[in-house]
Amino acid sequence: MSKAGLQFVERAPKAELHVHIEGTLEPDLLLLLAEKNAISLPYRTLDDISRAYQFGDLQSFLDLYYLGASVLVEEDDFYELMWRYLCQCRNEGIVHTEIMFDPQTHIQRGVGLETVLSGFSRAIAKAEQDWQQSVLLILCLLRDLSESEGLQTLRQAKPLLEQITAIGLDSAEVGNPPGKFKQAFKLATDWGLRKVAHAGEEAGPEFIKAALVELGVERIDHGVQCANDPELVLSLAQAKVPLTVCPLSNVRLKVYNDLNQHPILRLLDSGVQVTVNSDDPAYFGGYLMANFNALERALGLTELQSRQLVRNSFTGSFLSEERKTCYLDQLQ
Ligand code: ADE
Ligand code: ZN
Repeated sequence: MSKAGLQFVERAPKAELHVHIEGTLEPDLLLLLAEKNAISLPYRTLDDISRAYQFGDLQSFLDLYYLGASVLVEEDDFYELMWRYLCQCRNEGIVHTEIMFDPQTHIQRGVGLETVLSGFSRAIAKAEQDWQQSVLLILCLLRDLSESEGLQTLRQAKPLLEQITAIGLDSAEVGNPPGKFKQAFKLATDWGLRKVAHAGEEAGPEFIKAALVELGVERIDHGVQCANDPELVLSLAQAKVPLTVCPLSNVRLKVYNDLNQHPILRLLDSGVQVTVNSDDPAYFGGYLMANFNALERALGLTELQSRQLVRNSFTGSFLSEERKTCYLDQLQ
């Protein structure tokens, strides 16, 4: 089979629009920081960790993801985490990335937002300077917490808003519908933030519609459950709503038993603006190119599909129209 599609993606400058920085915490750094910060964990070796990272669903992953995040304490820890991911971007040709972070998981442990953002910003400034890496940050609210806790977090973030481009919504989806965060998203709109939300990862297509209508989001994270609602697929395609799809994540969290059942290419061929992303690469078996490689192996990627996926990564981004055009021109 021709690998022209994959070769195109490997060589092309591309964007990633759905990655949780806490989900890039690789096992070696996790153990190093746990030791340094005297955080006790239920694993001592890399083997213990790979045995533990077998997930039955989103919640079983989230339990270990929040546990992992607890080793991040000092400003330097956040710097190192961000720096390692940005080096990965350089290695994979990810010229622009929109990175989510979960302030509440740090604030709850007494780690201030200033500490978190100062570490991130120092790494971002260095990558911008060293190789013109382009980075935007998305502040995510945890949907299993209350809206009033979310509002409090947003108010704490207000003095630091110039470092943040968008608000997002993540964590346990089922039982926590988008409408629970209407006021928080209204406040974020008033402050000029862009808006995204995880929807239709484990919960049904109605969560996707609610995120669009009740929160006014511009982009849906995951959104794969729309495949069960042909009318929704049509309207997402017509309205050009980007979906940030994460193939390896969906298989590791058992949304699909096998990647060959994944609807990503069917959605793409239906005209939906899907993009490929890594979500939590340290937990799900790889970064962006690992996701493209796995798609090629399971479904085969034509050159046309590959080109469209890479183009979508820029058109679906929060870059200015001018910068989008500049990157798209490099793809010819
Ligand atoms: N937080 C980190 N990864 C997530 C995912 N895949 N879904 C919801 N919340 C998350
Ligand atoms: Zn996610």
